[in-house]
Amino acid sequence: MNKNDWTRTQRYQSYDQWSPKYKNDLKQQVATSAWRLGYHVQPVTGLLNDPNGFSYYDGKWQLFYQAYPFGPVHGLKSWYHVTSDNLIDWQNEGLKLMPTGDYDSHGVYSGSALPYKDRLFLAYTGNVRNQDWHRHSYQLGAFMDQNGTIEKISEPLLANPPIGYTEEFRDPQIIPYQDGYLMVIGAQDKSEVGQVLTYFSEDLLHWDLCGELHFTNEKLGFMVECPNLLLFDQGALLLFCPQGMDPAICNYQNIYPNTYVTAAGYSLKDNALRQPSEIKNLDEGFDVYATQGFMAPDGRCLTISWVGLPEIDYPTDNEGWAHCLSQVKECVIKDGHLYQNPVAEMKALRQGAGTPLSLSHKEFTPDKNQYEVLLEFEAGSTGEVHLFADEENSGFSLSFDSLRGKIQLDRGQTGICFAEEYGTTRSFSIEPGAVNLRIFVDHSLVEIFINDGAQTATARVFPLEGQKKCQITCEQNFTGNYWPLRDMTTNKG
Ligand code: FRU
Repeated sequence: MNKNDWTRTQRYQSYDQWSPKYKNDLKQQVATSAWRLGYHVQPVTGLLNDPNGFSYYDGKWQLFYQAYPFGPVHGLKSWYHVTSDNLIDWQNEGLKLMPTGDYDSHGVYSGSALPYKDRLFLAYTGNVRNQDWHRHSYQLGAFMDQNGTIEKISEPLLANPPIGYTEEFRDPQIIPYQDGYLMVIGAQDKSEVGQVLTYFSEDLLHWDLCGELHFTNEKLGFMVECPNLLLFDQGALLLFCPQGMDPAICNYQNIYPNTYVTAAGYSLKDNALRQPSEIKNLDEGFDVYATQGFMAPDGRCLTISWVGLPEIDYPTDNEGWAHCLSQVKECVIKDGHLYQNPVAEMKALRQGAGTPLSLSHKEFTPDKNQYEVLLEFEAGSTGEVHLFADEENSGFSLSFDSLRGKIQLDRGQTGICFAEEYGTTRSFSIEPGAVNLRIFVDHSLVEIFINDGAQTATARVFPLEGQKKCQITCEQNFTGNYWPLRDMTTNKG
């Protein structure tokens, strides 16, 4: 079915109304795609969006994502469940939290998870539409046990948005705080301005409004989605998606930005971040949104993002699936700056000892678009890295000028072009001086870590058959290495 032919009735029909034949045909269609990923979480069929419930429970990493399994469109959402022993191999566990209750009849929307006694507590938004298609948002709770059985809590944690806010109220993140729990949630006030609200609870069931989280005087667009507060021993990080925020506040070209603020800490008494930074882009590329993080029991701050954006068409729509998740990243705050890097576990994907790259070996064509490249350029270098290139086509390009401290990405010459109305290039500043790049390529995805994770840039790209060459153009000396990466081990789901 063409994406534009989907009616609302189809998108919201209950899951049991889709025939086994329809589901099977869709699976087969998806399996023919040349853009399926080798080591990233992707939907079995249909659409994936936000990561949800990223946590550690029952000796495993637990992760869910927003799923609409019946086509590449935003329809009746549920949570799909994946688990991992090592943050790189993810097992498909199936649809887990389903839109079957009175409080979530039109979608189990985004939320978070927290181990509680011997179960995993899930907090999420129940989306309900009335006959006139007006939205009502409930904040709901559920428990998952070690067998993966879900028990929904019968009454909402929050039955309404607070007075002064609209029904655009969703994506509760729950974190332990002092002798209770804090809920951080996205909201829109009655003057249609985005806000982040917090609540406090001692028992996870009864919540008291603390109010608006204070961290900026800027106007956060018309709605804030997916806020996440991460509290380090020293410092705090707030991730959020201020839809429609004025790009003059923080320059972005994507339809909606995923932004962050670092701070010295959080004070519940003032409901404020202490010494907050200005608002910055979390990723300098094209497609990162709805990033979710949590403080893992081993002390790391781990994050994962939806690589995709709302309201944008992607070439895989024609193949019955859409989007993927990023790799898991570790976030660190050093001297007030955020660094995002691959988790150490990612090195286990490397096959072989690596092939050196230098001025005299500056291009290679891998068997498949599934590899990692590490490059170090001297201060004063200028150059370009091409990925997904072939003899005729220069592919995806990253050009850098280490003297002026500039990087430009251009995906306009790669395979199938898309989202052109939001621009096919992205330019941003880096610290002038030596430049190091760590680049991960996975068929239709590129993730770039710049200068030890001081910045990241992510892009979906849709190369044509045979577009695999990686080529480095640089006059000055450089060093590097590349490794083919193995597939993650996963079941078909
Ligand atoms: C962000 C978002 C969330 C919502 C979910 C619905 O992408 O719009 O605010 O909970 O997706 O799928």
